[in-house]
Amino acid sequence: MFIGNNLIELDVVDSTNNYAANLLVQTKLVSGTAIMTHFQTGGRGQRGSDWISEPGKNLLFSIVLNGHFINSENYFLLSKAVAVGINEALEDLSGKTGFVKWPNDIYIDKKKIGGILIENQWKGSLLEVAIVGIGINVNQINFDDLQDVTSLSLLGSKNYDLKEVLSKVFQKIEFYYNMLKRGEVKQINQIYFNHLMFSNEWRTYGSNNGRIEGKIVEVKENGLLVLKLRNKELMTYEFKELQFIL
Ligand code: BTN
Repeated sequence: MFIGNNLIELDVVDSTNNYAANLLVQTKLVSGTAIMTHFQTGGRGQRGSDWISEPGKNLLFSIVLNGHFINSENYFLLSKAVAVGINEALEDLSGKTGFVKWPNDIYIDKKKIGGILIENQWKGSLLEVAIVGIGINVNQINFDDLQDVTSLSLLGSKNYDLKEVLSKVFQKIEFYYNMLKRGEVKQINQIYFNHLMFSNEWRTYGSNNGRIEGKIVEVKENGLLVLKLRNKELMTYEFKELQFIL
């Protein structure tokens, strides 16, 4: 195992992604270096949102990964590999079916259990290094006014050992990362699509032009989602352009 082999554990930090980025400015980090913390004072989510987590209850970590075999046209493959890895780990631990909600949230029972924030550093069109930030709700059971959120503990009515969950997640991410590195791209795309929420189902979505009915037929390697409409027209969406109605 190389992911988590070098593990930096912090009591508190603003954001493990920021910590990794600052470290990378000062020094080279071996691929697979992971930074975990028990509490973040400035945890960040996708699209500028906050990531809030009760102290000591959940997994908050970032993995630094070498991405030299990934380019700007297929960069979303890394996101796919990470998402299916987390999804599989959580399925194993909870005994429930998990789904990846495009682009890369992890859902179980139509509730969010984990989120991913990948921050890429490029060298030309090649991915120099990716900071893969992951938040997983493990032992938190109160989410106040947050809607549609769950945790392993809520699903399984027991407490989990954070380090055991972490090591399972590392293992699964490493498995899919290695698959990607070997160029087994077809398999990654297939597995992602098979675990994608609402894939191949007729559903109603929110879009910039109001409600739209369609079925997800593909998520491209650059992250764009392809929706097939009833009139067989194919529509392509960027992140934020399509809202799921759960
Ligand atoms: C999302 O679903 O919006 C993504 C959430 C990502 C949260 C994790 S927690 C560890 C890492 N550090 C951060 O500040 N964010 C990510």
